[in-house]
Amino acid sequence: MRQRIIIAIDGYSSCGKSTLAKQLAKELHYIYADSGAMYRAVTLYFLRNSIQLTAKKQIKEALKDIHISFEFNVDAGKSHIFLNDENVELMIRDMLVSEKVSEVAAIKEIREFAVAQQKKIGQNKGIVMDGRDIGTTVFPHAELKIFMTADITVRVERRFKEMYAVNQNITIEEVRRNLEMRDYIDSNREVSPLRKAKDAIVMDNTSLTMAQQLKLALQWANEKILANNKTTIEKI
Ligand code: DC
Repeated sequence: MRQRIIIAIDGYSSCGKSTLAKQLAKELHYIYADSGAMYRAVTLYFLRNSIQLTAKKQIKEALKDIHISFEFNVDAGKSHIFLNDENVELMIRDMLVSEKVSEVAAIKEIREFAVAQQKKIGQNKGIVMDGRDIGTTVFPHAELKIFMTADITVRVERRFKEMYAVNQNITIEEVRRNLEMRDYIDSNREVSPLRKAKDAIVMDNTSLTMAQQLKLALQWANEKILANNKTTIEKI
């Protein structure tokens, strides 16, 4: 059997990371894990329970009450995230959560909580995980690291279309402000800021179709899988 690898996909908000990660996982029969969804679920819990982001003790106590899991949803053909046994897949995409999530994700204790679970999910390899610190912190030894980027105007348009489909009150300016704010906080926080790992391959998908980006990523993945098999065989 071919050895399975870890694929880490990082990049700015709304670059199409999750679309590519999901498609890659499907093609390779790997698990897809959305690390951003975990920070969003924690944010939802904090909003609902009015947890103050400056109260360290309250944050630590709250984390003890948070249980996050993923369950495959057959109808949706993908995993849904559960917060304390409640399916919150739709709720975590709400603008209220998007407005707060980068601040929540900048907190050290919350990152330690999420990263520990992410490492566990990937312990058997055969996984595609997307986020901001996957290639730098969660899986620094991932065999394939992709750093995605795209023109901000294109990202805003893509995100606006997605959000408008579920909420017709949203404006394109709101979406732009939110993306710019999140990129800024994610790149400038103290703990595990968004960075391209030294050994990551950059994919700028401003003018790529989904099919083109998948083809490219699959080619990279197959090269890494092949190289990984060779190393494993040589070791034996
Ligand atoms: O990928 P997303 O937009 O759903 O992520 C939501 C937020 O979570 C994003 O603004 C930054 C944060 N995040 C993070 O800090 N580290 C990750 N590995 C994934 C997401």
